[in-house]
Amino acid sequence: MEKTKQDSDFKHIGKKLLSWYKINARDLPFRQTKDPYKIWICEIVFQQTRIAQGLGHYNNFITRFPDVKTLAEAEENEVLLSWKGLGYYSRAINVHKAAQQIMNDYHGIFPDEYEEILKLKGVGKYTAAAVSSICFNGKIPAVDGNFYRVLSRLFADDFDISNSRAFNYFSQLAHLILPENVGDFNQAMMDLGSEICKPKNPLCGECPLNQDCLAFSLEKISEFPVKTKKVKAEDLELKYYFVHRNGQFLIQQRKDDFIWKKLFEFPPVISDDLNPFIKSVKTVNHKLTHKNLSIEIFNVEVDSEEIWNNFIYENKYIVTDVDGSHERSFPKPLENYIQSYDTAYRIL
Ligand code: ADE
Repeated sequence: MEKTKQDSDFKHIGKKLLSWYKINARDLPFRQTKDPYKIWICEIVFQQTRIAQGLGHYNNFITRFPDVKTLAEAEENEVLLSWKGLGYYSRAINVHKAAQQIMNDYHGIFPDEYEEILKLKGVGKYTAAAVSSICFNGKIPAVDGNFYRVLSRLFADDFDISNSRAFNYFSQLAHLILPENVGDFNQAMMDLGSEICKPKNPLCGECPLNQDCLAFSLEKISEFPVKTKKVKAEDLELKYYFVHRNGQFLIQQRKDDFIWKKLFEFPPVISDDLNPFIKSVKTVNHKLTHKNLSIEIFNVEVDSEEIWNNFIYENKYIVTDVDGSHERSFPKPLENYIQSYDTAYRIL
């Protein structure tokens, strides 16, 4: 980092941001509390989900599981179900495990040190920094994409954010402007990053830091942050049989960690035994973070009671109906399929 100025030269920036935050902080339900359990859940939820989109789900989750103990004692499938709509179900599995870790290793009391919070399942440096600073006066910046964007523009710094050292680099840069109240600072950076210093069409005219922003004064905002590598999403094809009879259909719970861990799915196509029963095929495309899925679903209506009973006797799959499926979590495209089946079936 080629910064020749003293750290103190930049401290006024952090203070300015805090003054702005005092007046402009978004009124969010988790801002009314310092309960580390609630802040932790909120950080996990809103790391990858926009506030407007996830707030209702967050509130429902907290109502159903108001504290660590309730979450730790819940059935995993119920936790998965309550996560419905938030996606990234591995996060639900992790928060459940972490709650049990807190019960077992910390006597049910949320750890108050950054290093201990970091040991919880599914908690990374960002979340540990956010929880420790917001709830326990910790002093570590919660560096995420907002920090990369705001800091790279502020210092017109072309450090490549796709570089594996970016996290450490921008953490050091954040320390140059870090004020005393790091909890508010971290949240102010999140608000500034999502409301003002947006990736596209940032509102520089309204930015409390525009006088300090080098990229703004150079009229080069659009050049920052610099990102060279694009992680190429992998193409993946999935094939399922939607095997149904009289409103019932077959499902199974996923066991592997590859994608959609522990969610429910239809029987995968492994053999062509069911080909004679295929009524139609639907192809849906669905994007995951690093995967482009192409999903083919073969609609198989079993009109032979004997074959249907064989499926049930084999006990390989769970037999359910639409109502039963609401008790379980499915990947979004499969849930949509069940929904359209429900609509079609109701009409019949
Ligand atoms: N996104 C994730 N955590 C947040 C927080 N504490 N405030 C605002 N936005 C957030």
